[in-house]
Amino acid sequence: MSEREVRIGLLGCGTVGRGVVELVARNADAIAARTGLRPRIEKILVRNRSQPRDVDPALLTDRPGDVVRNGVDVVVEALGGDEPACSLLTEALERGKPVVTANKLVLASHHDRLLTLADRRRRAFGYEACVCAGVPVVRSLRHALAADRLMSFEGVLNGTTNFILCRMEEGDSYAEALIEARRRGFAESDPTNDVEGVDTALKTAILCGTAFGATIPPDRIPRKGVTKVTTADLAAVRRWGYAIRLIARAELDDSGDIRASVGPELIPLGAPAARVRDEENVLIVHGQSSGDLIFQGRGAGGGPTASALLSDVLDAAARPDAPAPRWRTANPAPAGPAARYLRITCAAPRAQPRRWLEELTGMGVDVRRIEVVRCPQNGRQRTVRLLTEPCADEIVDRITALGVADDSLIALRVQNPVRKS
Ligand SMILES: NC(=O)c1ccc[n+]([C@@H]2O[C@H](COP(=O)([O-])OP(=O)(O)OC[C@H]3O[C@@H](n4cnc5c(N)ncnc54)[C@H](OP(=O)(O)O)[C@@H]3O)[C@@H](O)[C@H]2O)c1
Repeated sequence: MSEREVRIGLLGCGTVGRGVVELVARNADAIAARTGLRPRIEKILVRNRSQPRDVDPALLTDRPGDVVRNGVDVVVEALGGDEPACSLLTEALERGKPVVTANKLVLASHHDRLLTLADRRRRAFGYEACVCAGVPVVRSLRHALAADRLMSFEGVLNGTTNFILCRMEEGDSYAEALIEARRRGFAESDPTNDVEGVDTALKTAILCGTAFGATIPPDRIPRKGVTKVTTADLAAVRRWGYAIRLIARAELDDSGDIRASVGPELIPLGAPAARVRDEENVLIVHGQSSGDLIFQGRGAGGGPTASALLSDVLDAAARPDAPAPRWRTANPAPAGPAARYLRITCAAPRAQPRRWLEELTGMGVDVRRIEVVRCPQNGRQRTVRLLTEPCADEIVDRITALGVADDSLIALRVQNPVRKS
């Protein structure tokens, strides 16, 4: 087979960039034999050239122009953050280069500008690495399922929080689980974006665009993090047959609006999202014709992310003028009713099960299960745990109006197994 070289301009040489360098070094021969395309790293942008790293120093530069230049066939962005990543992707497209990015923040925030430019310049725009790293969800939704009408998806899209919740299921406190996630390199020194669901909301916005051709701004997706979930919550819901996972869900409604949310949910044990362990991700997509499809695998790390980037590079090299996706901006639709798990901490006299059953029945909410336990930290307080039948989101405001302190209440959605067909 004749062979063509693909010269890569790499922006960034951190966890992901280094993964790309290693993958090219390891697999270039095999890729060339299989595809006729031989990837080669031409130049790498870093902030600090004098930092010791296991990369040929001649490849490193701190001048962006060295990377986004004529001797490069595809520009790969693995810088992270908003700027200069967005400007450099723009410049690469303006110069007629196909681009590939792992940067979900830039894509979710600037898809309008970047995808429109890619379309106008007729340059490929690859972003497989932005969601679920090495698990080929973007490619599958964009191409393999292009003929289907995708109705909804749900999944676990953040490996850090999933690792933390799995450790807490085994008895660790939140703080202990976070320390272990950091020790293993799954959590950054500031884990806010992961544990508060920001990272998952960015991925949800990107998946909406990919699956529905329409998206909503990530900051308009209702979002809750996992920091209020306790080891005791996980143990209690397990006795009732559930796990807790940070779930991204989105559904395209009949009027073209999108109902999306990110938050911890109770998932029946045995369901795919409950079975996903540690740093793995899972995405369940519901297609009108294909039914349910499940994608699962390692959703972070240099190796899997580099694999996704490099496969986008090969696609872009084979078809540099492949059409960029088009996403319209949709309206967010209000959340529908859902069964809820409520955990309320209150003074012992207020914690009688009969009283809470009456309060909730008075609000029109049926209760499936209730348990009251003494608070280990304060003997005068009790923790009331309830599982309700489907009810509206406003239940939280109505319970707070009863004088329950906001931070002593959590209300988690319980997965509804019935989906649209
Ligand atoms: N890590 C993962 O598992 C993962 C998975 C999927 C997607 N992603 C995405 O991939 C992107 C990169 O993540 P990462 O974990 O590889 O980040 P990282 O380890 O922090 O690496 C960032 C790299 O970009 C360089 N850089 C940053 N700002 C720069 C600037 N202004 N000028 C020049 N160079 C600059 C840094 O240079 P220095 O080395 O000189 O500091 C570093 O080499 C992010 O968008 C992230 O969301 C990461």
